[in-house]
Amino acid sequence: MILYFSGTGNSLSVARQLAERLNEQLIPLTEALQQDLTNEKRIGLVFPTYDFNLPPAMREMISRLRISPQSYVFTVVTCGSAAGNCIWTLRRILRKKGIELAYSHKVSVPDNSALAFGRNPNNQLGKFDRVPARMEQIISELQAESHTLHYSWFGLLSWLLGRPLIERGMIHYLGPKVIPDKCIGCNNCVRVCPMNNITLQQRSDLTDKDGQVAHFGDRCTVCFACVHACPQQAISTNGQTVRKERQYRNPQIKLKDLLLR
Ligand SMILES: Cc1cc2nc3c(=O)[nH]c(=O)nc-3n(C[C@H](O)[C@H](O)[C@H](O)COP(=O)(O)O)c2cc1C
Repeated sequence: MILYFSGTGNSLSVARQLAERLNEQLIPLTEALQQDLTNEKRIGLVFPTYDFNLPPAMREMISRLRISPQSYVFTVVTCGSAAGNCIWTLRRILRKKGIELAYSHKVSVPDNSALAFGRNPNNQLGKFDRVPARMEQIISELQAESHTLHYSWFGLLSWLLGRPLIERGMIHYLGPKVIPDKCIGCNNCVRVCPMNNITLQQRSDLTDKDGQVAHFGDRCTVCFACVHACPQQAISTNGQTVRKERQYRNPQIKLKDLLLR
C-alpha cells in the first residue's frame, strides 16, 4: 500500500507511479489513519520536504499509523533540491513504533514554496528531465526489496529549522491568509486542503448569500495546496498576493486528483 501526502501533486505523481508499477493500492495518508494496516506486507510513504524536514503534521500522523514491524516500510521523499533530515526524522518516528525503515530515496521536482519568495515554480520544470531515471532506479530497488537508505541531510540547519518555536514562526510567516474581497467561496481550497483545515464562513460584514469566504482553522501545515488551487489568487502567503502565472500544479496531476472531499 502506498500512502501519500501532497499539496500540489508532486508527491501524488510519484506515489501514483509507485502504486502502478508495484501493483499497490494508493491512498491519502489522512485516510490511512482510519485503517488497520497491520496485514500490509509493503508500505510506502510518499511526502514532500518542508524546511529540510518531514512536515510537522506528518510526524504526528505517522506516529498514529497502525502498521506492523513485519512490513517492508519504505519512503520516497519529494523536494525542490534538499530533503535535509526528512529520512532521519521518519526513521526515528518509526523506530519508536518498533519499525525499521527499510528503504528511502528522494526525487527532486519544482519547489512549490518558491512563490512565497517571489519566484516562479513553473520556471523549474526542467527538473522533471531527471525524474524518469530516478523513478526507474527506485522502482527496481523496491521490486528487489532493497534495504538501502539513500539519504541527504542538512545537519545543523535542518535541526535548527525543526525546533518547535522556529517551526511555528515559519508557519506564521509563510502561512496562507485569505483576502476576503477576492474570495468567491468556490470551495476549491476547502476540498484540496489535506489537513481539512478550511471551511467556508459567512463574512460578518456581508449578509447576502455571496458573503461566504474561506476561513482557516489552526491545523495549517503550510503545504500551499490552497494557495496554488485558488482560481482568484485570493490566498496570500508571506503577506504577498500570488500571481496566477506563479501558481503551480504537477503537470501529471489534475485539480480533481487533489480534491480530497
Ligand atoms: C513550506 C514548504 C517548505 C519547503 N521546504 C523545502 C526544503 O526545505 N527543501 C526542498 O528541497 N524543498 C522544499 N519545499 C518544496 C517541496 O518539498 C516540493 O515542492 C514538494 O515536491 C512539494 O510536494 P507536493 O506537490 O506533493 O506538495 C518546501 C515546500 C513548502 C510548501
